[in-house]
Amino acid sequence: MSLPKVFITRPLPVQVVEQVAARCEVKVHTEDAPLDAMKLAEACREIEGLMSCGARVGEDVLEQAPRLRVIANVAVGYDNIDVAACTRRRIVVTNTPDVLTETTADLCFALLMAVARRIVECDRYAREGHWHYWKWGYFWGADLFGKTLGVYGLGRIGKAVARRARGFSMRILYYDFVRHSPALEQELGVQFVDRETLLRESDFLTLHVPFIPETHHLISVRELAMLKPTAFLINAARGKVVDETALVEALQSRRIAGAGLDVFEQEPHIHPTLLTLPNVVLTPHVGSATSETRLAMATLAAENLLAALEGRRPPNPVNPEIYT
Ligand code: GLV
Repeated sequence: MSLPKVFITRPLPVQVVEQVAARCEVKVHTEDAPLDAMKLAEACREIEGLMSCGARVGEDVLEQAPRLRVIANVAVGYDNIDVAACTRRRIVVTNTPDVLTETTADLCFALLMAVARRIVECDRYAREGHWHYWKWGYFWGADLFGKTLGVYGLGRIGKAVARRARGFSMRILYYDFVRHSPALEQELGVQFVDRETLLRESDFLTLHVPFIPETHHLISVRELAMLKPTAFLINAARGKVVDETALVEALQSRRIAGAGLDVFEQEPHIHPTLLTLPNVVLTPHVGSATSETRLAMATLAAENLLAALEGRRPPNPVNPEIYT
């Protein structure tokens, strides 16, 4: 019996590739760069399984992949995949939740602290040789202690950020489409508020929603106008959740105090004005980028892929309806 054919779009850890290769015929795109739709479609012609990291998979690719049965996305977010089109074709799509929660929460907190304490500005000042004597009045930042953290979306990562904030003695408010149980609220030390209260009372607003049509520009002119002038916005969710033009305007005019951003509307393009603003810390979409977590993500994606190819229900289907 021939082995199922699999294409892996990135140079994933060797042990994971070997694990898949033990049960499948594997081809790996060894360059750590995205494939355009044509090249991806070409690579998908014969395959039954695709392990992909951020690759755009739409109708154009699916049309060229008549044998495809599973797309194992090596990420928790899957807005890069046309899931509805996959479901129509009975292709299961899987993601990698949980294993990256703590790591992404760490990055959110790193952005929060970096922007509050002006770490990047300080680093640049020290490196560039500007430090001739200690000054009382340079690089005053903002305390975290006693401040209000607003968590917009108390899902897995939102909760992990809230847990960190508790350790920093912050007051934690949250807003979500559904309210959590009083027991969970108590355990996390969080208080549910309406959206407007969240925006108006947060000293740090951190976003933890997936990108879906309903969350497009969730934070735009109106919302930014509700934030305190001393507030900081943290976004390590998805770039399109924030209206970047409106954010630039709010930052430039000091309508808000600053931002920590890991994601952008048109990645890898960053709004040129953001690059010039000192009150912004920018990272290139590295929320889950630690060696431990990337290995765990690749391992989980491989488990998902192999399960689906072997006719078992994978641990993390995002379109489980195809199994009913
Ligand atoms: C990263 O952005 C992910 O969705 O895992």
